[in-house]
Amino acid sequence: MNTGFAVSETVRARTSVRTYTSETVSQKTREKILAYLQTIDNPFGAKVNVQFVEKKTASNGEKLGTYGFIKGAALFIAVTAEDKDTAAESVGYVIEQLVLYMTSLGLGTCWLGGTFNKTAFAEQIEIPDGWIFPILSPVGYPAKQRIKEKVFRTAINANNRVASEKLFFSDAFTTPLDLKTVGKYADCLENLRLAPSAGNKQPWRVIFDGNAFHFFKKGSMQFMQVLDVGIGINHFVLTAAEKGLQGRLEKADVSRYPLEKDMKYVASWVCDNV
Ligand SMILES: Cc1cc2nc3c(=O)[nH]c(=O)nc-3n(C[C@H](O)[C@H](O)[C@H](O)COP(=O)(O)O)c2cc1C
Repeated sequence: MNTGFAVSETVRARTSVRTYTSETVSQKTREKILAYLQTIDNPFGAKVNVQFVEKKTASNGEKLGTYGFIKGAALFIAVTAEDKDTAAESVGYVIEQLVLYMTSLGLGTCWLGGTFNKTAFAEQIEIPDGWIFPILSPVGYPAKQRIKEKVFRTAINANNRVASEKLFFSDAFTTPLDLKTVGKYADCLENLRLAPSAGNKQPWRVIFDGNAFHFFKKGSMQFMQVLDVGIGINHFVLTAAEKGLQGRLEKADVSRYPLEKDMKYVASWVCDNV
């Protein structure tokens, strides 16, 4: 897999950008973004598409807005997906890879699942029958963070991540995984840990059984948190490719692990070797 950018470096460079300069994103850059989307290998099967939306007042007079959360952005990508039961993980996986690609081009982005006027943006795009419109992101060049943005980041603890011993386990969510035992897979898990998530809730939990990494979501939100796990799995898989680790994503039998009510199994990475 050739992702076209340095994965670990880009994972660290990415941050949610909520304040933008007035520099426009050129047509050539937009074409590169759409061309890159076509190269992304989606292991979860629901089709995912993006459409550019210029910020202006919608035809129905409603303002294309983000409730003040995003400032200065003139361009957005609206994300649509086939309404299948794997839509959430498909959107997370595919769009995070696109987000990392855009980061590598020097662009800023911010996953938006809630803080935008969905009805007004929906008027500006094509949503085929049987498709959904769950996510929007501004796309543009980052400007200095506003105070409001800093306050928001502090409120949701956006600069911090949960410690690995609370996320990665060697059995049924009780014994923390000793990262020294998993070789270069420690880098895959660390890059997963750094991923963005809705409200920075970091709902991913991982069990390593000696041969496979099993990915679960923990949290009360269904769609957004399964989507978050798709984002995390993308970081894991791209890092495995960067480190030359072979394996494959599949559904495994995880019935031996007792799941709390707010947990859901998403997928497993079966290692060719550890
Ligand atoms: C699925 C998803 C939905 C999100 N929705 C919003 C949103 O509606 N508004 C917002 O300001 N940020 C939103 N975020 C951004 C998160 O708050 C952000 O990723 C998290 O706080 C971590 O910060 P970082 O991205 O700078 O690392 C969302 C992120 C994800 C992954």
